[in-house]
Amino acid sequence: MENIDKIIAHLKSQGFVFQSSEIYGGLANSWDYGPLGAEMKQKLKTLWWNYFVRKNPYNIGLDSSIILNPKVWEASGHLNNFNDPLIDCKSCKTRWRADKLIEEKHPDMNVGGWANAELEKFIADDGIACPTCGKQDFTPIRQFTLMFKTNQGVIEDDKSTVYLRPETAQGIFINFKNSQRALRKKLPFGIGQIGKSFRNEITPGNFIFRTREFEQMELEFFFDPKDGQDWFQYWLDNVVKFLETKLNFTKDSYVIRKHDEQELAHYSSQTSDIEFNFPFGRGELWGVAHRGSFDLEQHQKNSKQDLTYLDPTTNEKILANVIEPSVGVERLMLAILCNAYVEEQLENDTRIVLRLPNEVAPYNVAIFPLQKQQRDVAEKLYNELLCDFDATFDDTGNIGKRYRRQDAIGTPLCITVDFDTENDQAVTVRERDSMQQERVKISDLNNYLKNKLK
Ligand code: GAP
Repeated sequence: MENIDKIIAHLKSQGFVFQSSEIYGGLANSWDYGPLGAEMKQKLKTLWWNYFVRKNPYNIGLDSSIILNPKVWEASGHLNNFNDPLIDCKSCKTRWRADKLIEEKHPDMNVGGWANAELEKFIADDGIACPTCGKQDFTPIRQFTLMFKTNQGVIEDDKSTVYLRPETAQGIFINFKNSQRALRKKLPFGIGQIGKSFRNEITPGNFIFRTREFEQMELEFFFDPKDGQDWFQYWLDNVVKFLETKLNFTKDSYVIRKHDEQELAHYSSQTSDIEFNFPFGRGELWGVAHRGSFDLEQHQKNSKQDLTYLDPTTNEKILANVIEPSVGVERLMLAILCNAYVEEQLENDTRIVLRLPNEVAPYNVAIFPLQKQQRDVAEKLYNELLCDFDATFDDTGNIGKRYRRQDAIGTPLCITVDFDTENDQAVTVRERDSMQQERVKISDLNNYLKNKLK
């Protein structure tokens, strides 16, 4: 896999990702998605939504608010527990996540769940130094909340304090009963949601891997724990199937890592992370957690509302259990882009090609007139193709350069209208990966492209 700096430079130059607020000097670790990044993101979200919501026989979707009643975060445990261990370098005053300082020096270690005293002792005994100034002089660890606080309305006081959601999941739990009743759903069923989440991360970084503002695609799957099915394995298998069949992930590009007891989040009895081999090291991509009945129980207790499900056959009241597959849109996009970026050595040249899966490539076809004389015919064809394909048009530079430009942004097929088109009513279609070309009748073109893009 290529170096991350090369990939970042490429994505910036091609209009996938820009430094946010760039004309004002930027804002640390904030990114904007350019025209091609925005397209790719939309397609990725649609792919997820189709797979996990629209085309899934069990599931339905939801779109809840970012700002919720603060009692939601009290009940979910986020106000008390959603903290990271913060440590300051006394010498240069930089701030670090104590657990990450250890894991970065020892990539095979996982210190999730360690107590602060254990982390402090390890940092001292192991001689871990400040990555900025190299000194070994740290403050004790303090817990730092990741919740973004703001105020709602005109008065800024404790009563008007609200939070930007740190996960989309709670919006689903608080709408469990509404959704179940309105859609007359029977257990088991899931509710999926895509939306922005916010975390005041101590050490954001690695490009779009860890940011303070990001999007999540989460599914909360509700079931009766007595139904005897292993829904945890079912959803873990489905996540793997999605990655391998929809996004072409190979088995050697990721591992599935089971959390040990100590590392489990306060709400989880079982969690496995799919960790992807990013160019900067292995990192969590997608988590699948067994949340038990923790969330519904907490919300039932705190809201004093009945959140049980009445089993229509046994008349028994059940507090549903939950399996949650959760992934970040941008983190998944980064993994796809790292997989796709290739510098290919040709006979007299190298070409940069993004071997993107067809369903997430910003464009799926590009249309070129070979010369000015074919412009009108090519433009007419472009307008026709726009009805069925995500097409782009390019008539600048020589044909070789135009192919390279499309390779660089991952367009799977290029169509050239040339001198012979008028006579044979055919065009040349060139494939991105094999670079092979084929002559195709315009009357067959639509079906031909659809077949190729399957
Ligand atoms: N509702 C469960 C939950 O939020 P999580 O492991 O904290 O669990 C789920 O987050 C996924 O969201 C992660 O696997 C990752 O893909 C993404 N994610 C979490 N924090 C992120 C951040 N700061 N920047 C980008 N993506 C993030």
